[in-house]
Amino acid sequence: MNGARPHESGAERRLGSATPDRQEARPAFAKGWDEPADLSKPPAPVPEPADIEVPAELRAEIEAHMARYPDIRSATLPALFAAQRLHGWCSPQALEQVAAVMGVTPAYLESITTFYDMYRNEPVGSRYVYVCTGVACSLRRARTVYKAIAAAGAELDDVEIREFECLGACDMAPMASIDGRYVGPLGTEDAEQIVDAIRAGREVLPGRGLEGMPEAAAGRWSGGDPIP
Ligand code: FES
Repeated sequence: MNGARPHESGAERRLGSATPDRQEARPAFAKGWDEPADLSKPPAPVPEPADIEVPAELRAEIEAHMARYPDIRSATLPALFAAQRLHGWCSPQALEQVAAVMGVTPAYLESITTFYDMYRNEPVGSRYVYVCTGVACSLRRARTVYKAIAAAGAELDDVEIREFECLGACDMAPMASIDGRYVGPLGTEDAEQIVDAIRAGREVLPGRGLEGMPEAAAGRWSGGDPIP
């Protein structure tokens, strides 16, 4: 006997959803999950382009992305990054502007921004330090590095310091993306230097960026576009 009720599926048993006590104990909104949609609200329509003021530069950038694809929705990710760069986060106003140019609903865009980790759904600072704590970096004590940087930078204003999933530069492990520039391998002893450089507006860990790696110099690996 495993204690399961006959009508429970395997998933329900794992989640414990069929046990009333546990069901009540579970928070309505579990940390790390998106907030549920408010179904009492009417669906937001595609904004009227004439009603929404879109900065000319943002409009031009979004339209340039749209022109590259047969299906304009393929331009959604770079269009949102452009708006995020301008506004600092994917604010309701930013989503409206992108929606107006692309002819999609803000809800569609929000479904993207709440799915992908690199979009900011709230204002969190104009600069950022993403410390990778993916598997390869964790094996090289990335969480300790993250904690050291977070502690050193606790008083920094306007800077978001957070853990991040694999940033695709595992050979620099443990590494971080600082405003899109990849630096590594990092140790706890780098934490103060990183924070001091950010505070002073200096380049962080000069000579320890991805751009200085032999693969990048030889043109075998560009490292991709900087993360917005
Ligand atoms: S696990 Fe850190 S860059 Fe891949």
